[in-house]
Amino acid sequence: MKKEVSVLVGAGSIGMAIARRVGAGKITVVADYSKDKAEGAAKTLEDAGFETRTIITDLGSKESILELVKFATELGPVKHLINAAGVSPSQAPVEKILQVDLYGTSVLIEEFGKVIAEGGSGVIISSQSGHRLPALSLEENEALATAPTDKLLQLPFITAITDTLKAYQYSKRCNVLRVAGEACKWGKRSATINSISPGIIITPLANDELHGPRAEGYLNMIKGMPAGRAGTPDEVGDLAEFLMSSRGRFISGADFLIDGGCTASYWYGDLQYLKSTH
Ligand SMILES: NC(=O)c1ccc[n+]([C@@H]2O[C@H](COP(=O)([O-])OP(=O)(O)OC[C@H]3O[C@@H](n4cnc5c(N)ncnc54)[C@H](O)[C@@H]3O)[C@@H](O)[C@H]2O)c1
Repeated sequence: MKKEVSVLVGAGSIGMAIARRVGAGKITVVADYSKDKAEGAAKTLEDAGFETRTIITDLGSKESILELVKFATELGPVKHLINAAGVSPSQAPVEKILQVDLYGTSVLIEEFGKVIAEGGSGVIISSQSGHRLPALSLEENEALATAPTDKLLQLPFITAITDTLKAYQYSKRCNVLRVAGEACKWGKRSATINSISPGIIITPLANDELHGPRAEGYLNMIKGMPAGRAGTPDEVGDLAEFLMSSRGRFISGADFLIDGGCTASYWYGDLQYLKSTH
């Protein structure tokens, strides 16, 4: 019998924290745009007793996603999909953010929904950033949740986006809505899919920010949060593990904000000053 497969897209700190919690006894497919990242992550997992395969995948390309689906399904039944790949507003222009974070992530959810094993589960990493957009109209929500993926980037309210922060926020809102839309299809295979919206999580990039020229603004934001500190990839990993475990079988199509109360404070507390900039 073939071993079950756990697919990790995006071999950064958050993705790795989740992969380590759910991959034991399975084959973990590490897919990343960067060969070095994929191979480095696979080595770390292998050195900790996991069995891995690597593949270079561009989340912004449907062709590349289809290659990943083929690669993973040939190895065995795909029990888990973890998407922790993405580009942030300071890393890429508007078109790239929409291509990877909005379009590509939607294609990934749809294509793995066609092959996910019975009883399988998916977790898509969104962001607290999507929770900073005001409510969208019913029509906009429905379009982001259910429009054919090849039409998503042509939606008028998406083509109107001109700044990277808005591109990121709409993309992350789309992840949450798309998960809800696709959960209906994943359910037909007795599989669940949910999104997690992290707040500030310390990763190598965030740690650089904390010690770089913009450290003061960052530290003030962290101090103003109800939790009074940033989060760790392991805390996101713990939540994902629960959602993907046997205890999470009644949870699907949902989004989980894990941000130390940052969003609450952004709308109603000490962090309301951020509204003019974020
Ligand atoms: N770190 C945070 O504070 C934070 C907060 C909220 C949301 N997030 C989200 O979490 C996810 C993971 O973030 P992270 O902090 O672990 O970042 P990271 O940069 O450590 O990891 C992201 C990974 O995605 C890969 N990647 C980028 N573009 C890709 C593409 N087109 N195809 C395939 N792989 C690609 C990168 O090579 C990298 O390995 C992202 O979606 C990010 O938006 C992070």
